[in-house]
Amino acid sequence: MNFQLTEEQLAVRDAARDFAINELLPGVIERDTHEKVPLEQLKKMGELGFMGMMVDPKYGGGGMDTISYVLAMEEISKIDASASVAMSVNNSLVCWGLEKFGTEEQKQKYLTRLATGEIVGAFCLSEPEAGSDATSQSTTAEDKGDYYLLNGTKNWITNGSTASVYLVIAQTHPEKKHKGINALIVERGMPGFVVGKKEEKLGIRGSDTHSLMFTDVKVPKSNRIGEDGFGFTFAMSTLNGGRIGIAAQALGIASGAYELALKYSKERKAFGKPISQHQAIQFKLADMATNIEAARLLCFQAAYLKDTKQDFSKASAMAKLFSSQVAMDTTIEAVQVHGGYGYVKEFHVERLMRDAKITQIYEGTSEIQKIVISRELLK
Ligand code: CAA
Repeated sequence: MNFQLTEEQLAVRDAARDFAINELLPGVIERDTHEKVPLEQLKKMGELGFMGMMVDPKYGGGGMDTISYVLAMEEISKIDASASVAMSVNNSLVCWGLEKFGTEEQKQKYLTRLATGEIVGAFCLSEPEAGSDATSQSTTAEDKGDYYLLNGTKNWITNGSTASVYLVIAQTHPEKKHKGINALIVERGMPGFVVGKKEEKLGIRGSDTHSLMFTDVKVPKSNRIGEDGFGFTFAMSTLNGGRIGIAAQALGIASGAYELALKYSKERKAFGKPISQHQAIQFKLADMATNIEAARLLCFQAAYLKDTKQDFSKASAMAKLFSSQVAMDTTIEAVQVHGGYGYVKEFHVERLMRDAKITQIYEGTSEIQKIVISRELLK
């Protein structure tokens, strides 16, 4: 077992860290307050290769491994989880899904621009009445010969208004249940496709989360991913990898909060000494650091299994389940270490605490992760 990161992996981590500190940190509180999407920064992230990290260079990607992706996600998420969720969805759900299951024509047309960050993608599975229960899709894709007629509404869509390409999951053969579902590539601007209301959220407020409406949208058959009826397997397989990205996001939120708490505890004095000299604070720091290290190892394990082409569905669900709990626990404790200062925006930890919560909800709630894990255990 080798716990040593390679020179390349360390270079990716350092580049992501520098970018986050220099480019994301300066406006992060303002973007959170005013719900501004970091559009300029996402563009630069594309130029630096962070939006298609694992894609084959022949399609414009970085050709990197998933460990590097975890490292970059952690660093970006320490500072700005709104930027990192856009990065995660584009890398793990959209680019990976297209590269793994798309046709050569689809890759040339869409993946090459998504992987360079020229455009951003969105993944559209959730519906007003189908979140955890993902097989109950009510969006329909009626087979009309050489095209599908798409009708329905999608909810909670990350990159909802900024994306140019949307991977939409819809039901074609209801009698076949989940085996009748298709995944379609929908372009922004196709007639009948409307971006709906923006959600006002507790956290990741710089991420644009929208509902989307499709009314008689004609989607060419050539935009279907995989065989007829492959859509649900496509969504589940893609989410397995997506969960590594969100686990790494949670890890970053936790380690960002821990680093701030550690620094503050050395600066802040109470009862005649820095609060880091009080055992009550030392115990909190020790718990935080231990949990973060365990979360990081679970993220690395899931990434390693994926990179070595082994089954990683249980490992990615475990990494997400554990890391998101660590993010929640650590950010709450980081606010506590900061005392009253933790409760105000200027000190960043209150934002990280609000951002942490979503990691227990999207790409499958913690309860869904337990279902995925226990099914593997009981196989
Ligand atoms: N990997 C691969 N295949 C899987 C799978 C997985 N993790 N989980 C299920 N499947 C397959 C099953 O093998 C089965 O296939 P077969 O019929 O061919 O054997 C098929 O999917 C149906 O599985 P189930 O009968 O187990 O389906 P179910 O209705 O009981 O539910 C579930 C399965 C795991 C609960 C699934 O519905 C699920 O994962 N729900 C959560 C969905 C989710 O994560 N949504 C997040 C939205 S995306 C998002 O948040 C992105 C963003 O913007 C940030």
